[in-house]
Amino acid sequence: MSWDAGDIAEQLADRLRDAISCAFPGHTAPAALRPSAKPEFGDFQASFAMALGKTLGRNPREVAAETLACAHLEDLVEKAEIAGPGFVNLTLTLSALTRALAEHDSPTLGVPSCSAQTHPVAIDLCGVNVAKQMHVGHLRATIIGDTLARVHERLGFKVFRQNHLGDWGLPIAMTLTALRRDATDLDTITLEDLNRAYRNAQAQGAADEAGLAAAVSMGCGPHRIAELTEQNEGAAQTIADAKRTLVALQSGDAAAVADWKRLIECTMREVYQVAHTLNVALSDDNNRGESFYRDELAGVVDEFQSKGVAREDAGAIVVPFPDRERPLLIRKGDGGFLYATTDLAAVRYRVQSLGSARVIYVVDARQRDHFRDVFEAVRLIGWDMLPDGTRAQLVHLPFGAVLGKDKRPLKTRSGENFTLKALLDEAIERGRREVHARAAAPDAPTHSLDPKALDAIGQAVGIAAVKYADMSSDVTRDYVFDLDRMVSFEGDTGPYIQYAHARIASMMTKYSQGAGATKEQSQSLIHPIEPSERLLALALLRYGAALETSARELQPARVCAYLFDLANLFNAFYQACPVLKCPDESVRESRLRLAALTRRTIADGLTVLGIEAPERM
Ligand code: ARG
Repeated sequence: MSWDAGDIAEQLADRLRDAISCAFPGHTAPAALRPSAKPEFGDFQASFAMALGKTLGRNPREVAAETLACAHLEDLVEKAEIAGPGFVNLTLTLSALTRALAEHDSPTLGVPSCSAQTHPVAIDLCGVNVAKQMHVGHLRATIIGDTLARVHERLGFKVFRQNHLGDWGLPIAMTLTALRRDATDLDTITLEDLNRAYRNAQAQGAADEAGLAAAVSMGCGPHRIAELTEQNEGAAQTIADAKRTLVALQSGDAAAVADWKRLIECTMREVYQVAHTLNVALSDDNNRGESFYRDELAGVVDEFQSKGVAREDAGAIVVPFPDRERPLLIRKGDGGFLYATTDLAAVRYRVQSLGSARVIYVVDARQRDHFRDVFEAVRLIGWDMLPDGTRAQLVHLPFGAVLGKDKRPLKTRSGENFTLKALLDEAIERGRREVHARAAAPDAPTHSLDPKALDAIGQAVGIAAVKYADMSSDVTRDYVFDLDRMVSFEGDTGPYIQYAHARIASMMTKYSQGAGATKEQSQSLIHPIEPSERLLALALLRYGAALETSARELQPARVCAYLFDLANLFNAFYQACPVLKCPDESVRESRLRLAALTRRTIADGLTVLGIEAPERM
């Protein structure tokens, strides 16, 4: 990946790197520059001298000193000190910091943009199944996928959102067959009805061969045996009918196809409603379901065979792996294709047709083995190779489960699985209660708002609570769904970040309504003199780096952690430094601009997370 870069940390790192090769000809080393952990260590700390000292067999403190002697830092750095075993602590000059902030205060907020030649990125997200309710796992696949798409888009990548819908195969054909047989009105059917029809069809199609055998061997009465025999014959009939429907669909039978499309529409109506509530960008344009690849499956298997990557095994076609015993099945003995066959076709499309150099699968951790096998098979056949010789990176981001307070998979009080909608409704309800309660205080900024406006803010708070909690820790881990904690305005929560933003927005409103109103937008420079101002300013400059790290590591939590840090630093600054009440006009203007920049950065970061930033809370 290549980005255009140019922020102050990068400039410092470049100069130190140059100084290293000047002080130690023939040696190159990165500066290993990081923001300082403590303000007393300056603004940045470089730790190159330790590793370089080892390579050179020299004392790192001497290595650091000799490097500094060669370094040209005068225009940027006020103080460069060697500390401890050989750290280099750097403190920026006020004017360098002021200049950096002035440059940073642009519409891009210092976020680098990858070059136009950079390959696109494909993100496999959502992945719901037609005729089935969305569950909590789909929440994760949808919001994490959407956020990673937004992070990449913010960095200038072309992103293809790929919704790999489960919209093809026998179970769907079974559901469709049952619905058509019962002459169900497919235009008015709800997803709940559809889901019930799906379950019934599965039950009808399930033969109980084992049960029949057991009943016979245990000498059950003729009545039981007849019952089971009938069930099994019925199941065989159901399957045969479904296969006929599938053939009709495959051959483009207009009536069958029209009905099948209605099932997809019914499912997607609800998905889009939820996506809208979640502030997630998802539309029909993103639909690349299993059916999209249905005509390619035979060709996929042929090519695997003709290239010698797959072989026949007892009538089935499998891809053997050199280092593993279990091969990947890509065609069953009866000629049927599998989930994996479709995914092979999908990789080929994403890399070869869309030209993606990075394909990210935001899918449940339980599919780990599936993706390991699919990616391995793709490498064997070479479909991960782009025409220009770039090898595409295929990554499964295996997210963890959502647990209840009892640390078991989330269930309703009556013991059923939570539907996504029920969960979000509850979160919104909680957000609304919180916002209405706060608005009751006479001095609350929301006190004058009508109930509808408060409801809208409450919805934004509830959704922020859920999304932020879902993404603020390592997404590969399971987490406990605890609305009380998530919806709190204090601590590492979505509402806390939103609240910091709203606080600044209120302050700005007060300013523009007051004496300062004569000036449009403050154009004075930011001079971060107080320690808390300086820390806030330095954090603002790190925004682009936080997004880059999040994209590189595929961790939305990096964005969350950045915003939490920023909100904390802003609150500390606001506590320590009067803004509107500051008697010195130029200091006041500088602080206002610092606050305005903070507000824009928080709003931008929340947008990347697909979280709204209300003006008042
Ligand atoms: N429909 C699948 C499921 O619910 C998820 C699809 C994931 N994406 C993929 N390319 N296999 O399990």
